[in-house]
Amino acid sequence: MVSQQPPAELIRRVGWSIHSRDPQEVYEQRGREQWEFTCSLLPEDWSFAGRRVLDFGCGIGRMLRNGAEHDPAGEYWGCDIDARSIAWLEQNASPPLHVFRAPELPPTSLPDAHFDLIYAYSVFTHLSDSWSAWLVELHRLLKDDGILVATVVGPGQTDFMGLPIGEDDVGMNVFAPYTPWDGGGPLIFHSRWWLRAHWGRLFDITELRDGEPSGSPPLYGQGVVVMRKRPGALTIAELERPQRDEPREWSALHNNIASLSRELSWHTIYLTSRSWRLTAPLRAVGRWLRGRRTR
Ligand SMILES: C[S@@+](CC[C@H](N)C(=O)[O-])C[C@H]1O[C@@H](n2cnc3c(N)ncnc32)[C@H](O)[C@@H]1O
Repeated sequence: MVSQQPPAELIRRVGWSIHSRDPQEVYEQRGREQWEFTCSLLPEDWSFAGRRVLDFGCGIGRMLRNGAEHDPAGEYWGCDIDARSIAWLEQNASPPLHVFRAPELPPTSLPDAHFDLIYAYSVFTHLSDSWSAWLVELHRLLKDDGILVATVVGPGQTDFMGLPIGEDDVGMNVFAPYTPWDGGGPLIFHSRWWLRAHWGRLFDITELRDGEPSGSPPLYGQGVVVMRKRPGALTIAELERPQRDEPREWSALHNNIASLSRELSWHTIYLTSRSWRLTAPLRAVGRWLRGRRTR
């Protein structure tokens, strides 16, 4: 279906070169494997015939291209904020895929109830500020009873770089919020109780699988949440509002403030020393000028 291999640079930006001597082969292989895994999460009587699917944050479509190849009776859509990835898909895989560039923040121009299935792999693991707006948008885009599958980092893990990230320490906690997408984006940890308390307001969570700290296939460390659209609509504020009578909302927030201020102090030290290095030539010129004046 695809005439050309995706460029290594576009594979690298979604993080799949790190485990591999041959990033392209591993990228494609894991795309197949995770497409099959996603299919295994769907109801037993599920068929793609006549169904419309969205890969939200598709990158260069490592999973979506498998859908179009193996289950061509479905209609497959992909979106991403990355212009180069969407341009590559437009040139190499559209048709059969329908692709579009997503905005940083919703809405998209698509009508309500457009999709039967939406999945998002390694996307909500990086959305620090826009998660609630996107969850509301994906809910709008799903048909009644539509299915949303999203991977998460956190459930099942107990520490991250020496920081505790167990169920009592984490709600939705953000690390490295300043990291750009081409550097992997911010890193978000979720706990089970928080996902149920917040995502559960818009969706019935039918399955919540923990990640595996060892990072084994098919999820390579991430967990997965399988959800059914609930009727009704919520605002962003209603989705974000802390759960009443849940003390872990506050302990998680407290932990996140502590970890962010720790990160910030390291960041400041780094920036300070970097700016000190960068301004060294100016200081040298200043010394030279002062020396000339006093000669
Ligand atoms: C870690 S990558 C995962 C890519 C792909 N899902 C995969 O598993 O190979 C996260 C992707 O989400 C995309 N992304 C970030 N914010 C987005 C948004 N608001 N709308 C659509 N895509 C977004 C990024 O550009 C990036 O391609």
